[in-house]
Amino acid sequence: MTTIRFIREGIDIQCKPGENLRELIIREKLQLYGLKGILGNCGGAGQCSTCFVSVEGGTKNCLSPLTSVEEEKLKNRPDNWRLACQTLIKSSAVILTKPQSPPTNLRDLKEFSENKKLPR
Ligand code: FES
Repeated sequence: MTTIRFIREGIDIQCKPGENLRELIIREKLQLYGLKGILGNCGGAGQCSTCFVSVEGGTKNCLSPLTSVEEEKLKNRPDNWRLACQTLIKSSAVILTKPQSPPTNLRDLKEFSENKKLPR
């Protein structure tokens, strides 16, 4: 088992390596989508670009490499953004959901997360 820390929600969730990040978020009933994605998303087909997350911590290879879909859809986005539907979990990571609407206390959340050791 590995652990994904969701810093917006303040929770650590255990999962199996190889799980799809979007499916994990939905299964755990976390909010993945902003309004646009709530109104209409592609269901994980890599077409709508509404399932953004940012990777805020973890090892270099904690997630699967960018897919060709992500390389196209994330061209003008920060380097640490991913499409959750295209991302497989390899090992523990720290994730921010909806990075397009960051919480006002993001710096505090990151600091708190850094001070709390992430389980392997
Ligand atoms: S759910 Fe549509 S791109 Fe990920």
